[in-house]
Amino acid sequence: MSLLDRVGQKLLFGFDPETAHGLSIAALRCGLPIAGRPVRDERLKVSLCGIDFPNPLGMAAGYDKNAEVPDALLGLGFGFAEVGTVTPLSQAGNPKPRIFRLTADEAVINRLGFNNEGHDAAERRLAARRGRAGIVGVNIGANKDSADRIGDYERGVTRFAPYASYLTVNISSPNTPGLRTMQAREQLGELLTRVMAARAAASVKPPIFLKIAPDLVEAELEDIAAEVTEKQIDGVIVSNTTISRLSLHSAAVAGETGGLSGKPLFERSTIVLARIRKLLGPDRAIIGVGGVDSAQTALEKIRAGADLVQIYTGMIYAGPSLPGRILSGMIRFVEKERLKSIRDLRDNRLDFWASKQL
Ligand SMILES: Cc1cc2nc3c(=O)[nH]c(=O)nc-3n(C[C@H](O)[C@H](O)[C@H](O)COP(=O)(O)O)c2cc1C
Repeated sequence: MSLLDRVGQKLLFGFDPETAHGLSIAALRCGLPIAGRPVRDERLKVSLCGIDFPNPLGMAAGYDKNAEVPDALLGLGFGFAEVGTVTPLSQAGNPKPRIFRLTADEAVINRLGFNNEGHDAAERRLAARRGRAGIVGVNIGANKDSADRIGDYERGVTRFAPYASYLTVNISSPNTPGLRTMQAREQLGELLTRVMAARAAASVKPPIFLKIAPDLVEAELEDIAAEVTEKQIDGVIVSNTTISRLSLHSAAVAGETGGLSGKPLFERSTIVLARIRKLLGPDRAIIGVGGVDSAQTALEKIRAGADLVQIYTGMIYAGPSLPGRILSGMIRFVEKERLKSIRDLRDNRLDFWASKQL
């Protein structure tokens, strides 16, 4: 952790987590020089679904819910930034407090509930940056009170296809009651059919990824993989936060309702990632997310089957220089191992991870 990161963290941890988040967005919006120059290296480039990623590390959804700072995030070194989740109508989300730090575990529990300003606000901001370089994905969701949740996803595809490098269909937030039931086979089949039809009707056709929960058993993973394959979804993002409470030290807040992210999620989300890679085969895109906080954990996601990696909670504990440090660590690694490309690592610990108990 750099000195600047340490000072920044001390300052931000003096505020409640949601205020700290707002301040960090404000700092990025103002263009404060909070991290070093982006790291570039040919060997980190990844070509996937027709997109040339400058490196495999992305900012996960949920940090920039309203598409306020995607370019500032790219400026921290990320190869891509995912904005959202955005829902058709703005919604306030759950009552506060709704984000909790589990400092001893380097984890967070959140039950935000898709608080966001809605499609119009996000579209306005994305339209204003149209034509700019940089890979920006848009993560779409459904309003809590929607009478037609699948329709909300269709609207998301239609609205954001012209602006998004890729679209993420997020049905794995634990904080919108009933949302995760869309992962069950029949509902998922209908959702994916309609989402793909909406993309087929759009003038621009970005890749579509499905973001899944880590709290799925093998039979459910098999159903998801079968639907993803049948409906020709471009890829899967594994995973969202978990509702399980895996041996935590922070007993005082571990009982809070919501999704757990950060270090304790690494193992479980990496096992699910490897199992999904096994089920989908080598050609489908997979983004690994959950508990990445170092070059070593990022490389392990790739070894377990990920093409790309995302982080969120790691940034809360390590600060904005984390992407640069992860990328520098990756370069040191490819140099030491004399790899031509970071891609050469993919799947080389697939069996190890897939055979672990969930
Ligand atoms: C405060 C917070 C808000 C989040 N909001 C979203 C969201 O809106 N949409 C989404 O797909 N994932 C959301 N996530 C999940 C992250 O994108 C990611 O999948 C998860 O946190 C695991 O990664 P991590 O351990 O690196 O944080 C959120 C996570 C956190 C901590």
